[in-house]
Amino acid sequence: MTKSFENRDGWIWMNGNFIEWKNAKSHIISQGLHYASAVFEGERAYRGKIFKSKEHTKRFFKSAKIIGIKIPFSEEQINEAKDSLIKKMNYTDCYVRPLAWRGGKIMGLSTTNSDINVAIAVWDDWASYFKIEDRKAGLRLITSPWKRPAPNTAPYEAKASGPYIICTMSKEFAESKGFHDALMLDYRGYVAEGTGANIFFIKDNDIHTPIPDCFLNGITRQTVIEMATNQGFKITERHIMPDEMKKYDEAFLTGTAAEITPIRSIDDLNFTIGDHTTTFKFMRDFSDLVNRSN
Ligand SMILES: Cc1ncc(COP(=O)(O)O)c(C=O)c1O
Repeated sequence: MTKSFENRDGWIWMNGNFIEWKNAKSHIISQGLHYASAVFEGERAYRGKIFKSKEHTKRFFKSAKIIGIKIPFSEEQINEAKDSLIKKMNYTDCYVRPLAWRGGKIMGLSTTNSDINVAIAVWDDWASYFKIEDRKAGLRLITSPWKRPAPNTAPYEAKASGPYIICTMSKEFAESKGFHDALMLDYRGYVAEGTGANIFFIKDNDIHTPIPDCFLNGITRQTVIEMATNQGFKITERHIMPDEMKKYDEAFLTGTAAEITPIRSIDDLNFTIGDHTTTFKFMRDFSDLVNRSN
């Protein structure tokens, strides 16, 4: 059982200061809470160093800008704060969660006089986002009834809290039916991604992944594309219809939390799983890469 996130020891960086974890609070009246007026990041430190820390900070600022939040710190200050916090918490391997949100100085949808808060928390009990045994056996996914919205209906390039409600609802749908996760299609019916991770398909030397034109182009996704290309695999980004998935042998998810996680099945469709597969090789290579980078 995971220890409650609200009641832990340690420190949280909040608005420029280190605050005791238990005292890092926001008032119940806040635009962030009521209207999901917030953006966040998800990062991982390996051997004491955050993988692609600067890229994550850049995306954090980009997300904030897209939804109109001006973060009252520089990218360098956020990078320093992340590193200092990890040291202060005595972690080497941990998950890192920066968050920026509109507070409660004013209420309603107007943002003209909103106050902006920024916090960073780190924790080390997401060593595996999915259970180790599920990662080994591969995940069972079910197609979600919820679709990734069109680019002009949601800020898809922002890691904004608001749109995550369809991920939460899709995940809840999957778990209520006994699956590990959901596959989300997009507003056109194309395969899009998991609830918190991008998706790839493998057939021999060919690797296909959906075009990120209405969902997050994950930093892990970009890393895996580069890694596989360097290894001589042919990567194609394309629109994939659900009935095309049967022509692939393997499938996997990528994300900071999920890292590389194999998929055993999507609805009634089964994929190959096991140590001999390209997916398992990528998992080993990715682990080497993130640990070697540090
Ligand atoms: C909806 C969604 N898609 C994709 C990703 C993968 O992004 P990244 O690899 O940058 O963590 C995430 C995780 O942050 C996510 O929440």
